Amino acid sequence: MVAQEGAQHYVPRERTLTALREASAECRGCDLHRDATQTVFGEGPTRARIVMVGEVPGDREDREGAPFVGPAGRLLDRALVEAGIDRDTVYVTNAVKHFRFTRDARSGRRIHKKPSRSQIVACRPWLLAELDTVRPEVVVALGATAAQSLFGPDFRVSSRRGELIEPESDAESPLALATVHPSAVLRARAGDRDSAYAGLVADLTTVASAL
Ligand code: URA
Ligand code: SF4
Repeated sequence: MVAQEGAQHYVPRERTLTALREASAECRGCDLHRDATQTVFGEGPTRARIVMVGEVPGDREDREGAPFVGPAGRLLDRALVEAGIDRDTVYVTNAVKHFRFTRDARSGRRIHKKPSRSQIVACRPWLLAELDTVRPEVVVALGATAAQSLFGPDFRVSSRRGELIEPESDAESPLALATVHPSAVLRARAGDRDSAYAGLVADLTTVASAL
């Protein structure tokens, strides 16, 4: 058994999305590749002005091989329209690129599971390579997993959401903003859902105003 040291070893030098995508299909940087169907790499234009980072592909994404094609993706698409962001200017990806799940003992259904800290760290080289290739103006973390991959484990979305964060050292780096994950809006109790959705739209409107 080869030691798993994260994705770094699999990331090619060539900085094109095609090269990265092809190489990511062979990634064995953590054990998630074993039970998932395929690597779900990011999608969108190479010159996207915004990169949006989710958590991990879901059941639909795992089967289709594309990010945000299920219910969370539909909600995100709707919120982007309301925020005045053209979907064609957005590259969408995930902090972790293989589906993580447990199997429901009775139904056999695959239930989404949050990636672990070590899986987030293992997969981070792919996310950094995507950002280095696309070089967006703004990077948006959708939820805590993406925020922790981008800003470190101490970052709290609850206290910093909606804030435009200036790059610290490198002027080449994009502006950043964290907001809630669209799945959190879907999971909110009926009475809270409208305000959770409005909050997401408001944060995305801040992103639009920064372009
Ligand atoms: N949730 C995510 O975080 N990413 C997807 O691609 C789909 C749902
Ligand atoms: Fe590689 Fe990321 Fe998949 Fe783990 S989750 S095998 S690091 S692509």
